[in-house]
Amino acid sequence: MAVPSGRDADGGTVVLAVTGGIAAYKSCEVVRRLRERGLRVRVAMSPAATRFVTPLTFAALSGEPVMHDLFADPHPERIPHVRWAESADLLCVAPATADFLGKMAHGIADDFPSTLHLAVPCPVLVAPAMEDDMARHPAVRANLATLVQRGVQVVGPGSGSLASGREGPGRMAEPADIVDAAVRVLAVGGRPQWLHGARVLISAGPTVEALDPMRVLTNRSSGRMGHALAREAAMLGADVTLVSGPVASPPPAGVTAVTVESAEEMAEEVLGLAADRDIVIMAAAVVDFRPASASADKIKKGAREELTVQLVRTRDILASLGRLDPRPLLVGFAAESGDPEEGARAKLAAKGCDLVVGNRIGVAGVGPGAADNAVVVIDRLGGRTAAGPSPKPVIAARVWDAVRDFRERAERER
Ligand code: CTP
Repeated sequence: MAVPSGRDADGGTVVLAVTGGIAAYKSCEVVRRLRERGLRVRVAMSPAATRFVTPLTFAALSGEPVMHDLFADPHPERIPHVRWAESADLLCVAPATADFLGKMAHGIADDFPSTLHLAVPCPVLVAPAMEDDMARHPAVRANLATLVQRGVQVVGPGSGSLASGREGPGRMAEPADIVDAAVRVLAVGGRPQWLHGARVLISAGPTVEALDPMRVLTNRSSGRMGHALAREAAMLGADVTLVSGPVASPPPAGVTAVTVESAEEMAEEVLGLAADRDIVIMAAAVVDFRPASASADKIKKGAREELTVQLVRTRDILASLGRLDPRPLLVGFAAESGDPEEGARAKLAAKGCDLVVGNRIGVAGVGPGAADNAVVVIDRLGGRTAAGPSPKPVIAARVWDAVRDFRERAERER
């Protein structure tokens, strides 16, 4: 059954930087609404912001300690701006005062939120809020332009009644709009949308072959590599379907997930869906041999000392995909005890793939079943990329880089 899952419910951490403007009171509503979307919210306040709303208010609303003093001693965490930066999937600055935008644009770090800003590797969203004269000032406009050029996302400001009682531009975007923008930025993680409009199919996990109602033949695949590839593809803008064998982790948000059990079920699903796909990645560890027949009843031990089970080959899904005409851009995996590059080259030719990701098995801490991977990606035009050992999400990003690079070379050669 296909189950589209919403990215909002995926969780993730938003660090909300509140800086010193009257609109800070509206940030309370931003915290509440972000949490309603299933997001963890950590609030970092500038000293000026604490004059408008107390840290206690944000602590109560977010359910997390609030950071507002860069030099507070003792800190619950060591080097808190680094720890906070590591935990953030999005830094959202609301309200972003003229002063704070200036600090961001010029790399000034003299309080906790501005120091944090320099440390975060994640996307940044700002919701400017100031009086209309300030919003129009060339210095503020230039700072905002610098930030936009650097990839910072901006929501608002709108026009409306300002703290001074005047009407004009500079009013902070409404909390609902800030939260919508935050969820949108989180969904793509600031990535270029080069897979926008592409239909991508990814297989993941092991297959499970029944011997009897109790016993099965399977392998150590955790599905993490395929799931990471699916998540990355969704973040690059693709329309992703994930066909996964039984695994412990839920499918990543934003992809259509189909769960299968046996190699034959996976073959049916993948081959049924492949025809209208632009790209197919077979990351699944498909069991090669299944019991010739599954016993309907439990096989009793009885008096026997041995049990011989006849195994028969499963369908090679990747090789079948390689024979489709026309066929999608096809990426296979090669799990090898020996040299992964050699194995990958053999499978590239044998299965009619465009790219093959080779990985070693049997090495502690990397490969099938582990959190990390080390791979070499080769393609049929002679491209080669080695990546890792790194966490599988990082490897997934490198694999997609290799696919993009291959596609560009293939188009040039056409
Ligand atoms: N594969 C497949 N169908 C199978 C077996 C494997 O589609 N019945 C795919 C895998 O998803 C992977 C690629 O083929 O993308 C290579 O799988 P791998 O297990 O490395 O190799 P095998 O083809 O099974 O060959 P061998 O076990 O001899 O190395």
